[in-house]
Amino acid sequence: MKTGIMFVCLGNICRSPTAEFIFKDMIKKHVLSRQYEVCSAGTSGEEEGNFLHPLAAAKLDEMKIPYAPRRAVVLKKSDYGSYDYFIGMDEGNVRYMRRLFSGDGEGKVYKLLDFTDTPRDVADPWYTGNFDTAFDDIEYGLKGLLNYLEKVNKEI
Ligand code: 4NP
Repeated sequence: MKTGIMFVCLGNICRSPTAEFIFKDMIKKHVLSRQYEVCSAGTSGEEEGNFLHPLAAAKLDEMKIPYAPRRAVVLKKSDYGSYDYFIGMDEGNVRYMRRLFSGDGEGKVYKLLDFTDTPRDVADPWYTGNFDTAFDDIEYGLKGLLNYLEKVNKEI
């Protein structure tokens, strides 16, 4: 069975799709694609239907991370049963998910940088304008996440 991973941010046009595409690239390079189903969503409907932020796309181009055209989607309560991990980019995302899911009965909600030695939020480049820092933080968190998942999967 595949492990389902949903990356979550506010708008689903900057951080969570960036995480989705970097993680897809990482697992492809590690020949692990078949074990994971990866996608992303936003907690706000503000950007629903919109494409990746052009500066997020430019950063993925710069780093040679492939991405497909996609439109922002909003996280739904019913998604809870369909994925194993819901990984928020910041504390606000995590708080929102715990409310939406009426708690987190199956312990599926996490924050990305909690998988590293320096737990903190991924600052939102939509507000900071800094897509370089966001990319670096996301990539750093995803390395920690992949290590964690590979350890957990070995134990199963
Ligand atoms: P993201 O960035 O959560 O990383 O996709 C944002 C994009 C749009 C908005 C906020 C954050 N917005 O308020 O529209």
